[in-house]
Amino acid sequence: MNVALGVGGGVAAYKAAELARALMEHGFTVQAILTDAAREFIQPLTFAALTGRKVITGLFSGASSEDTLASSVEHIRVAQEHDVLVIAPATADLLAKLAHGLAGDFLTTMYLAFTGPVVLAPAMNSNMWNHPALRENMRILRERGHTIVEPEDGPLACGTIGPGRLAEPEKIAKVVAGLRNRPAASKRDMEGETVLITAGPTQEPLDAVRYLSNRSSGKMGYALAQAARDRGARVILVSGPVHIDPPKDVEIVRVHTAVEMREAVMDHLDEATVIVKAAAVADYQRLNAPNHKVKKTAARLSLELDPTPDILAELGRKKGDRLLVGFAAETENLIEEARRKLESKNCDMVVANLVSQEGEGFESDENEVVLVLRTGEAIPVKRAPKTAIAHRIFDEMIKLRLALHSLR
Ligand code: PMT
Repeated sequence: MNVALGVGGGVAAYKAAELARALMEHGFTVQAILTDAAREFIQPLTFAALTGRKVITGLFSGASSEDTLASSVEHIRVAQEHDVLVIAPATADLLAKLAHGLAGDFLTTMYLAFTGPVVLAPAMNSNMWNHPALRENMRILRERGHTIVEPEDGPLACGTIGPGRLAEPEKIAKVVAGLRNRPAASKRDMEGETVLITAGPTQEPLDAVRYLSNRSSGKMGYALAQAARDRGARVILVSGPVHIDPPKDVEIVRVHTAVEMREAVMDHLDEATVIVKAAAVADYQRLNAPNHKVKKTAARLSLELDPTPDILAELGRKKGDRLLVGFAAETENLIEEARRKLESKNCDMVVANLVSQEGEGFESDENEVVLVLRTGEAIPVKRAPKTAIAHRIFDEMIKLRLALHSLR
């Protein structure tokens, strides 16, 4: 696969050289494209030496640098010859230009001519990252279907501490590698399906200002929603409170508590042909939580909690011909627990993930799972970005539907 690597002008531009190397280690050929601002931070020669290719630095033929391949239609040729466009670091300026279609240099012009998947790895000061203008541009780019490798928290070059550091090159390279597992845009094998997906945590109020919840970020459920949408399904996404934007063209129902999630799921059950329960639903709630803030005292405080409704178990009783996919978040006995859940909740598939492993399960961009099927199979799926895992779940689900039909 050929990757076009766009490099923006920021302190993190030096990390783009490490990214070029990491991409090549994953088996990609890499064509570096440096903006004028990037060249203030890093020399084209560094990329030429690493990738073994001339670096593109300008839009017009005969442009000044010796490293320049560009001619008046070069941006079209490069757009056609590459499978993925990765931009790292994606600066605030570049993101604004991409969001609004401004095409004043090679990279932004090539972006408009490019029809394949785009991966953006932003890096900037935290205040810039949190600015409403930037948030709006990110929303536009996400809705356009681009993959965003979120910046990380930490000390920044400007001296502040917060979100804005370019994600580690190996992490970005893995996200790009995960796109290999993604079906071509033409594979619309879920047309006619209505997929009801739950995602994120629930929040169970303890008083007017406190709640019981968990670390679910919604990334797994949102990746499933995006994958089902890309494969042509209608998607209804019932989401607990999360800090990520929903994919474009999915119907979103926002909830807070397990009781609200149950109600939303049951409201849409009739329309669904497939149900995927990726949400991390709280198992306990405080019934009749006080609607004022409970005062702190020196005394020990005990809380009485009651079970929340088991949505998956109810779905198992009501599912009829629908395919029901549950999740199992376990810290031990992964497959045994998944099989137990599959039977007791009448699921067709349980996606079992070990949530005790660093960098997998809750909050992370990647996951490693075992797909436990009603047919008795247990299919391990190696660590990969959640979008790739989501596609694998649907690949196996489609095969399972055929297998179950032939058993009838
Ligand atoms: O959101 P991310 O940060 O991307 O993290 C992804 C994830 C770790 C949350 C996801 O991969 C995952 O494992 N989701 C299920 C988490 C969970 O609650 O597991 P469980 O083993 O406690 O529940 C089993 C199943 O029952 C789940 O499908 C759950 O949605 C469902 N359930 C649980 C409790 C309840 N009251 N009602 C339910 O329907």
